[in-house]
Amino acid sequence: MRRKKYIIGNWKMNGLAQDLQQIGEINTFCGRNDSVDSAICPPVTLISGAAQVNTDITIGAQDVHHNEAGAHTGCLSAAMLKEAGARFSIVGHSERRADQGETDALVAAKAKALKTAGMNAILCVGETLETRDAGNAIDFVTAQLLASLPEEASSKWLTVAYEPVWAIGTGRVPQSADIADMHAALRAALTDRIGSDGDNMRILYGGSVNGGNASEILTLDNVDGALVGGASLTADKFLPILEAVA
Ligand code: PGA
Repeated sequence: MRRKKYIIGNWKMNGLAQDLQQIGEINTFCGRNDSVDSAICPPVTLISGAAQVNTDITIGAQDVHHNEAGAHTGCLSAAMLKEAGARFSIVGHSERRADQGETDALVAAKAKALKTAGMNAILCVGETLETRDAGNAIDFVTAQLLASLPEEASSKWLTVAYEPVWAIGTGRVPQSADIADMHAALRAALTDRIGSDGDNMRILYGGSVNGGNASEILTLDNVDGALVGGASLTADKFLPILEAVA
């Protein structure tokens, strides 16, 4: 199965208007290379500014509320993000699972809300170092994925991202064999749950991906792209990751 590689930058709580020029440079690269899909998730304040001028790169959000509207101070619905120019949102990032106590059921509801609004979802899963050291990483992450996956999950609108919590922002990356083993297990869990379409669904790796390690990680079996934090904040760091694929 040929799955086009997908590289997504997650800016987290970083970026002011002056940083939009970084997206402009990445957009220029994307306009010349269609061998890789690429997206940036800036903070919400920059979504419309980014989406209006950058039409060769997809703009996404970092989170979404699971309800369509209502009394939820400070929250944003899928329709609002879509109107601002986001085509998808990340859901279930470990920082939100940890900081905001998001459960698997809530993550599934958020993904479903995106689908209802005609948007795509990037669903994150990953184990802590304690779980990895206890030898339970594959069982834990597989169960987390199955519990976070909405019933209507399909490769047409949903992408999975495996992000070991201990590899995020730490400069530590799992052994290549461990990444490949996890992605194979997630692939098997997906095909078991949704049938042959599980073979079409992209599974990204995330956690300290940079221009130096991207080509090794991105050639592993069942690694269909990367979710990149720190190395996505500037074009000079992000472009080498895209170039590793293009
Ligand atoms: P990192 O973050 O690339 O800075 O490790 C990855 C992520 O959280 O998506």
